[in-house]
Amino acid sequence: MKAIVYTSNTGHTAEYAKILGEQTGLPVYALSEAAKQLSNGTEIIYLGWLFANNIKGYKKAAKQYKISAICAVGLCDTGTAIAEVRKVNAISEETPLFTMQGGMDKTKLHGINKVMINMLTKGMDSKKDRTEDDERMIYLLKNDQNYVSEENITAFMEWYKQI
Ligand SMILES: Cc1cc2nc3c(=O)[nH]c(=O)nc-3n(C[C@H](O)[C@H](O)[C@H](O)COP(=O)(O)O)c2cc1C
Repeated sequence: MKAIVYTSNTGHTAEYAKILGEQTGLPVYALSEAAKQLSNGTEIIYLGWLFANNIKGYKKAAKQYKISAICAVGLCDTGTAIAEVRKVNAISEETPLFTMQGGMDKTKLHGINKVMINMLTKGMDSKKDRTEDDERMIYLLKNDQNYVSEENITAFMEWYKQI
């Protein structure tokens, strides 16, 4: 393993990348900058934020580097949504995939991202017979909060220590 490479929009994934860098001792690069430092085919850990279950930057990173493990940062609870994320991004069972809860910061959202979150919030708000999960999602969407924590990287670190 040579490096940690990430894509972040509002900062949560960058925070996780920094924490993982500190805990593993690996250098950390934004995907947009990584090519200056890493040659093609370098073995990396990739972190990207979740956009409609797509891991941002994953396809591009997979073309350039050998990805040993993936961390997807979203609003979903840490350790959940693994099957959906695998399916949408066509990640095989052989590649370790971890989800980590990031947060919401609408002050940093612009353009299509802002429009999509506003539409999703409105749609969920107008829903009748909301489930507990719906209520929780509405809360997460409406209240800007940062859920990044060292606890959320536990599963990743367990995997990392045994490779
Ligand atoms: C347009 C949009 C779509 C999103 N889709 C998902 C999603 O499918 N699943 C999820 O868990 N979080 C989703 N999120 C939440 C982000 O992944 C979350 O805010 C994350 O912390 C952003 O990471 P960043 O701060 O590194 O950009 C979405 C956010 C936006 C703006």
